[in-house]
Amino acid sequence: MAERVLLVTGASRGIGAATARRAVAAGFRVTLVARKAEAVAPLVAELGGENALALAADVTDWPSVAGAVEATLARFGRLDAAFANAGIGMGVSFFGDGGAEPEQWRDLVLTNVYGPAITARAVLPALADTSGHLVLTGSIAGRYPRKGSLYSATKWAVSGLAAGIREEAVGTGVRVTLVQPGITDTDILTDEQRRKPKLEADDVARAVLYALEQPPTVDVNEIMVRPTGQVL
Ligand SMILES: NC(=O)c1ccc[n+]([C@@H]2O[C@H](COP(=O)([O-])OP(=O)(O)OC[C@H]3O[C@@H](n4cnc5c(N)ncnc54)[C@H](OP(=O)(O)O)[C@@H]3O)[C@@H](O)[C@H]2O)c1
Repeated sequence: MAERVLLVTGASRGIGAATARRAVAAGFRVTLVARKAEAVAPLVAELGGENALALAADVTDWPSVAGAVEATLARFGRLDAAFANAGIGMGVSFFGDGGAEPEQWRDLVLTNVYGPAITARAVLPALADTSGHLVLTGSIAGRYPRKGSLYSATKWAVSGLAAGIREEAVGTGVRVTLVQPGITDTDILTDEQRRKPKLEADDVARAVLYALEQPPTVDVNEIMVRPTGQVL
């Protein structure tokens, strides 16, 4: 069988970069997507140029996301899996008690909800050709509400996206996995979160690879992984 191909959004650091490393070690070739190709170029060099392709795409921009899939198919000839992982955090108060101004909220919703939605739209036709696999990064905050958190609401939306796409995928052979990490030691964390128990990005990457490595007859629907001792 030809080597499998995985497209990762949010691949420049954190959970996406750790997953790309694990995936290449497991035999995948990877397309690494971030807003600037320079941000993923060092990881491409680390992984070996023949196994990895660096692409610039903003997940809030449909032409650039669709273009990343086209470029992947042009380079590798197939797409077996996609990790819709890019996301941002933002502090918000619905009572106006600090946090980002409402004009900025658009970026959070576009990146964390519209981003994975259009990523799914871009990859699913190619995944249908390979009976492939879509993995989305939700969050523990997408299963348990967070006080005054628009971020939490975006991740509840990702939970809904994954479930709805899985239903539409019935009969296509495509599998859909929602990964819901707890606090993970990446750049997205607030200072307060940094003081709490944390996963390593590689801990989440292993969970993603667990789902990807199941046989085609096994659809791992959801994986929630939290650091030991994290308070819900
Ligand atoms: N860390 C945690 O505790 C935690 C817990 C649960 C869920 N998550 C989720 O895990 C995912 C990965 O986050 P992380 O923790 O690994 O954070 P991170 O280290 O800050 O990585 C975020 C990644 O998303 C990319 N990105 C952001 N906006 C983008 C856009 N508009 N278009 C394309 N790429 C974009 C960034 O790339 P560039 O900036 O280079 O473009 C970067 O590669 C996110 O969905 C996050 O919500 C994180």
